[in-house]
Amino acid sequence: MAQIGQDISFATSLLRDGKVVAIPTETVYGLAGNALNTSAVASIFEAKNRPTFDPLIVHLSSIDELYKYAIEIPEDAIKLAKHFWPGPLTLLLKRNETIPDLVTSGSSLCAFRVPNHPITLDLLNALPFPLAAPSANPFGYVSPTTAVHVNKQLGEVIPYILDGGNCKVGVESTIVSFEEDGIHLLRAGGLSIEDIESCIGKSIAQIHTSSSKPAAPGMLDSHYATRKPLYVGTPEELNLPSSTTAVMGLSAEEPYANYFPLSTTGDLKEAARNLFATMRALDETDFEAIIALPFPMHGLGRAINDRLKRAAHK
Ligand code: TXA
Ligand code: MG
Repeated sequence: MAQIGQDISFATSLLRDGKVVAIPTETVYGLAGNALNTSAVASIFEAKNRPTFDPLIVHLSSIDELYKYAIEIPEDAIKLAKHFWPGPLTLLLKRNETIPDLVTSGSSLCAFRVPNHPITLDLLNALPFPLAAPSANPFGYVSPTTAVHVNKQLGEVIPYILDGGNCKVGVESTIVSFEEDGIHLLRAGGLSIEDIESCIGKSIAQIHTSSSKPAAPGMLDSHYATRKPLYVGTPEELNLPSSTTAVMGLSAEEPYANYFPLSTTGDLKEAARNLFATMRALDETDFEAIIALPFPMHGLGRAINDRLKRAAHK
């Protein structure tokens, strides 16, 4: 198993040596390596068993670092970065040649964000390079929101996990791109569309993609999956045996057996924070299947529904 701790200087020395380290962020734990070192980046793909056509987010210590790696940055991107960084927003921008092709899977665009976690910000500030980091889960499985989640799945293949406690947001960052016709949402995430729109004063387009041609390659239809079959809908529609099926939903009171609420007060932020940990916990129970009641399509409900849809059994 990996070592777990809060030793930033140990993490720094591993990363300087081209090794990978799991890091806490406010969204989910990431599996980090030197973004400017192709062999470190290759180790990330290998540890996760992730196909190299699925590019990585580059994590920066501050907005000032962005100017070292991104070019032709649109004004709206700067406005959003100033407003929401550090935070759960990823910007897809043109990159210069200091970012290796492997990070972006050859694309001229690179995903950037400044994560909002004190330990990881200290780590980034101590390093002379940015960190490429996908979520620290085996490709296709639910993302980790605790150090223990990371250790369970990647503990055998990584040396160190920086422990930053439970992730406060709980779903991955929102990803946007800047196109001629405006801003596009590539992945619903921890920052709501409503917050983004009110910052820039215009609406953003939600891109609907198919699994064969995803807007972000990681947005494959089947993703975030539990091992047990997960269905989205109501128990009445799905008609599964209630004694062996767990039901997950937003609010505390629902009239179902084996019911697991993601929030005590019907709060979508609290639900997002609990989503992946609950999916993992139910995956380890004796229930044979998991039903997720549909969430409202506003605020973080959009990101939750997106993750559930991709986790759903086909
Ligand atoms: O909250 C997060 O974003 C977390 C934490 C660790 O920062 N990271 C994360 O990374 O969720 P990952 O690799 O699991 O998801 C990143 C998504 C993928 O769907 C990937 O395809 C997309 O971002 N992406 C990254 N770089 C891209 C690029 N150059 N062009 C298009 N999509 C990109
Ligand atoms: Mg991921």
